[in-house]
Amino acid sequence: MGHLPDPEPPVRPSIPLTALALILSSQVHAQPQATAPTSRPEQLVDALNGVFGKHAARAVHAKGIVLEGSFTPSPEAAGISKAPHFLAKVPVTVRFSDFAGIPTIPDNDTMANPRGLAIKFHLPNGSASDIVAHSFNGFPSPTADDFRQLLIAIGTSGPGTAKPTPLDTYLAGHPAAKTFLTAPKPTPISFGTLPYYGVNTFKYTNASGGITYGRYQFLPLAGEHYVADAKVAGLAPNFLADEIRQRVAKGPVKFKLMLQVAAPGDKLDDPSITWPKQRRLVELGTISVEKTVADNDAAQKALLFLPNALPDGIAPADPMIDARSAAYPVSFGRRQ
Ligand code: HEM
Repeated sequence: MGHLPDPEPPVRPSIPLTALALILSSQVHAQPQATAPTSRPEQLVDALNGVFGKHAARAVHAKGIVLEGSFTPSPEAAGISKAPHFLAKVPVTVRFSDFAGIPTIPDNDTMANPRGLAIKFHLPNGSASDIVAHSFNGFPSPTADDFRQLLIAIGTSGPGTAKPTPLDTYLAGHPAAKTFLTAPKPTPISFGTLPYYGVNTFKYTNASGGITYGRYQFLPLAGEHYVADAKVAGLAPNFLADEIRQRVAKGPVKFKLMLQVAAPGDKLDDPSITWPKQRRLVELGTISVEKTVADNDAAQKALLFLPNALPDGIAPADPMIDARSAAYPVSFGRRQ
C-alpha cells in the first residue's frame, strides 16, 4: 500500500536530544555493527542495552507498575473481530511504564517519555492476548532493522564523538526519527490522563469473514492532563506510581479502547507514518483499571507481554509485530 499523501505529524511527546546526550554520558555504549538485512532478536536487545546499559530489568520501559481490572467490549466490537474479548467481558492485567531501560529513572526525567501501557486480556479458554502501546502516536523507525540502526547510532554518539556523530547522520536521513526525538513532551499528571497508541497495524476478522485493518488507541476517560513545565522539576521521582495507587483507591481508572481504521492507501507496515486524525474511529470497549497488586516487583518480573499473542480474529499486518515479539522474550530471559 502507498504512503499517505499528507500525513500529519505525531502529536505526542518524546525524547529531546539533550536528554539523550545526558543519558549517554553515563551508560555503556554499543560498538558499531555491520548492517544486517534482518536483525536477530538478540541483536535488537543488545542495541537497546547499548543505549541504556544492562540492568536486571526490561531492556526498555524498565520501570513500571502493575494493576488489575477488566475489559468490557462495546456492541460494535463483534463487528470488527470474533476474538473472544471482543464478545464478552474479561479480566485484564495492566502495566504502566516509563520509557527508558533504566529501572530507577525518575518519573520527571525527559527519558521517562513516552510512557507505556501494556494490557493482558485473560481469555475464557485460559490463554491470553496482549496489546503493548505507548503515549506517542508514531514510532521513529519504519522497520525493526531500521530501529536497530537508530539504537546503534544513539549508542555510539556519546559525548566526545566526532561530528557528525552516527546519530547526526542517521537523523539527517530519517525525518520521522527526528520528529519522534524532538517532539514536545509534557509530563502527565497521571498514567491515567494521557492517551496511548498501539502504532503497529493489525488485521481483524469478524464472524462473517469481514476484514478491517486498524491501529489501537487508548483514550483516557478522565481526559488529558499534563503538569505545567515550570512544576516538572519539583515532582517526586516516583510520583506516577504513587498517584495511580491513590487514584484507583478512589475508583476505577478508565480508557476507551478505540480502533483507528485504515483508509485505502494508508501504509499498514510502517509505524513511523502516523495516519490522519480524520480516520474513522470504532469504539471497541472500555478498560477499567481497578486495583494494584500486592507485590509489584514480583508481578512485573513474572509478566511477559507479547504483541503477537493473538486469538483467532486478530493477526499482525506489520512485520514489526513479530520482530518485537521475538525480542521481548530475549529481554525477559535476561532479566530473570
Ligand atoms: C522493533 C521495534 C521494537 C523493539 C525491538 C522493542 C523491544 C522491546 C523490548 C526488548 C522490551 C522489553 C520486553 C520485556 O522485557 O518484557 C520492550 C518493552 C516494551 N515496548 Fe517495545 N520494542 C519495539 C517497538 C515498540 C513499539 C512500537 C511500542 C509501542 C507501540 C513499544 C512499547 C513497549 C512497551 C510499552 C514495553 C513495556 C512492556 C511491559 O510493560 O512489559 N515497543 N520493547
